[in-house]
Amino acid sequence: MEIIETAEAMRAWSFRQKRLGKTIGFVPTMGALHEGHISLMRAAVQGNDLGVASIFVNPTQFAPNEDFSKYPRTFEGDVRMCTEAGIQAIYAPTGDSMYPAGYSTYVTVENVSEGLCSRTRPHFFRGVATVVTKLFNAVLPDRAYFGQKDAQQCAVIKRMARDLDMGIDIIEMPIIREPDGLAMSSRNRYLGPEDRQRALCLSRSLFQAEKMLQAGERSAAVLIQAVREGMDAVNIDYVELVDADSMQPVDRVEQPVVLAVAALVGPARLIDNIKYIL
Ligand code: PAF
Repeated sequence: MEIIETAEAMRAWSFRQKRLGKTIGFVPTMGALHEGHISLMRAAVQGNDLGVASIFVNPTQFAPNEDFSKYPRTFEGDVRMCTEAGIQAIYAPTGDSMYPAGYSTYVTVENVSEGLCSRTRPHFFRGVATVVTKLFNAVLPDRAYFGQKDAQQCAVIKRMARDLDMGIDIIEMPIIREPDGLAMSSRNRYLGPEDRQRALCLSRSLFQAEKMLQAGERSAAVLIQAVREGMDAVNIDYVELVDADSMQPVDRVEQPVVLAVAALVGPARLIDNIKYIL
C-alpha cells in the first residue's frame, strides 16, 4: 500500500500502472470510512486491476457555517480499512496543495446541481465537481465508484463526466444500511443515542413509500405526504420525488425516479433515498 500526497506523484504512479496495461478503479472519500465506503472499494478492486482511494476533506464543499473543522478525521483507521479492502494506493493530498494561494478555477454542473441539497447548500456541488475533477486528473482512473446515498452527487458526477468527455465510467453502488435500516454515513457519528433512534424515521418512511410504489401508487404528492408524515420526529429539509437522471421534480412515477429526503437530526444533517425503476 502506498500513500501518495501530491498530484504529480499520483499521476506518475498511475502512468506507471497504465504503461503495464493495468486498469484503475477509484473511490474518492473524505475519510471517516465506514462499511459503505468499503463496499465501493471492494467493487473497485474486483472490477479493475488496481484500486485507489483518496482521503481528502474538501473545504470547497463546506460553507463557512458548516462542519468542515469538526468533520471526523480518522486517518490511521482509514488507512487500515483501505488496506483490508485491497486498495493499492491512497491519494491523500494536503489542502494547500489542492487549493494553493490564488486558486481560481471551479467546475459548475448546471441543472442537475439545482434543487434538493443545493437549496440549503448552494455551494456544495460546485465544490464536489471541482474536487472530483482534480482527483480524477491526478488518479487517472478507468472507473470511479460513488454511493447511491448521495444520489444527487452521483447524478452531478455522471453528467460532468459525460459533458467533459472524461472517459471515466461512473459506477453507482447501492446504499449500505445498518441492520436497523439507517443509511451508513460518516455524519452518523454525530448522533447521540436518542437522535440515532429518531434518525430511523428517514429509512422507515422511505421503505413505507417503496411498498406503496410496489402496490402501484404513482402520485408524487401522495408519496411525499406519506414520507413527510413518517418523518414528524425530525426537522425536514426536503422530501422530493425526482427523475433519476436529471434530478428534476416529477408529478408522477413514469420513469426511473429517486424519492429523496434530507433532515436535521440533532447536530447531523442526514440524507437518504430510494430509487424506483418501473
Ligand atoms: O461523497 C464524498 O465523500 C465527497 O463529496 C467526495 C465525492 C469525496 C468529494 O469530496
